[in-house]
Amino acid sequence: MKSLEDNLAALAERGMLRSLREVESAQGPRVRIAGQDYLLLCSNNYLGLANHPNLIEASCQATRDFGTGSGASRLISGSMSLHHRLEERLAEFKGTEAALVYNTGYAANNGIIQGLLGPEDTIFSDSLNHASIIDGCRLSGARILVYPHNDMLALEAMLERESSGRKGRWLIVTDGVFSMDGDLAPVDRLVALKERYHAWLMIDDAHGGGVLGKHGRGTAEHFGCLGQIDLQMGTFGKGFGSFGAYLAASRAVIDTLINRSRSFIFSTSLPPGVLAANLAAIDLIDSQEGAERRARLEANRQVFAGLLSDAGLNLCGSVTQIIPTLIGAPEPTMQAATKLFQQGVFLSGIRPPTVPEGTCRLRATLMADHSQAELRRAAEMLITCVKDVKGDG
Ligand SMILES: Cc1ncc(COP(=O)(O)O)c(C=O)c1O
Repeated sequence: MKSLEDNLAALAERGMLRSLREVESAQGPRVRIAGQDYLLLCSNNYLGLANHPNLIEASCQATRDFGTGSGASRLISGSMSLHHRLEERLAEFKGTEAALVYNTGYAANNGIIQGLLGPEDTIFSDSLNHASIIDGCRLSGARILVYPHNDMLALEAMLERESSGRKGRWLIVTDGVFSMDGDLAPVDRLVALKERYHAWLMIDDAHGGGVLGKHGRGTAEHFGCLGQIDLQMGTFGKGFGSFGAYLAASRAVIDTLINRSRSFIFSTSLPPGVLAANLAAIDLIDSQEGAERRARLEANRQVFAGLLSDAGLNLCGSVTQIIPTLIGAPEPTMQAATKLFQQGVFLSGIRPPTVPEGTCRLRATLMADHSQAELRRAAEMLITCVKDVKGDG
């Protein structure tokens, strides 16, 4: 058996070793690393709320009033007034009967799917779904059928084929905004299919929440389908600038999860400071300032993505603030990321298992607070680096 050290050395040789980079400042458009300033192009703080005074003040006040910890899992003693206020506000924001807060998006996807489905049920899952959805599907013990990415004809054929002798519940599950491609699930077509075949539809809106739709309600609002999604999952750690996750759904679904969802039941709940920041984030997203931040983000996206696509780069179908540039193999991808870092631009190279083999990419994520001038400069640098490492400069 090989030692851990040997395994790590083998990963490094293949350009696959991961390591942590220490950031010495808040997650703004520019960050300090080892005493130097960098343009930050890999944070999911899309609307710039992670360092917003309203969220900071709400968090500090709640910590002073209610302390730093929630004390227990919510079924034991940790169900604080702030949890209930946040869930009521969320249900109103998403237009559902009820909502349930989870500690992270990872825990939510695990606990929602495990809590609602079992071995007698069937899940239809997009091939590019986030790892936390894949793990939740496996944990449920349900039969998992993976359909090719966003291929509605293939999904329909699968649903039709499975219809004869159908048993148990059906769930269609998809990212709303795909986290590594920045493209969108065709939510309107998924709604039509789930209605025709009597399945639940679950949208993971980790990257669409706060950002998409006129009022920031996310991917479902963008497609005009807000009232038609059975299970609307989202996170607070990205566009909302804070931490945690939620499901907005019917009362019966939420009560089932309170009784069956293991990641909800067996984990200490979110602390007061985080809950209050989440509430402040929803208020901001729902305000005129939220609309302005969404508009600035979209304007930034058009500038940055426009320059890359004019230069002939492959942006993997991105139509959102997640803008990947496909490179292929891990080594040139990491070389390009290193070259950019040396020039003051911090952005991540993405490798398997996060993306399929042969589809390594640079993944840029934009913020409302980036200036267009700095995005233009970064785009020019990125184009040059990608052409250099691919040898077609
Ligand atoms: C699509 C998607 N779902 C879920 C998650 C997990 O959310 P969290 O970071 O809150 O655990 C992520 C996180 O990166 C994600 O991209």
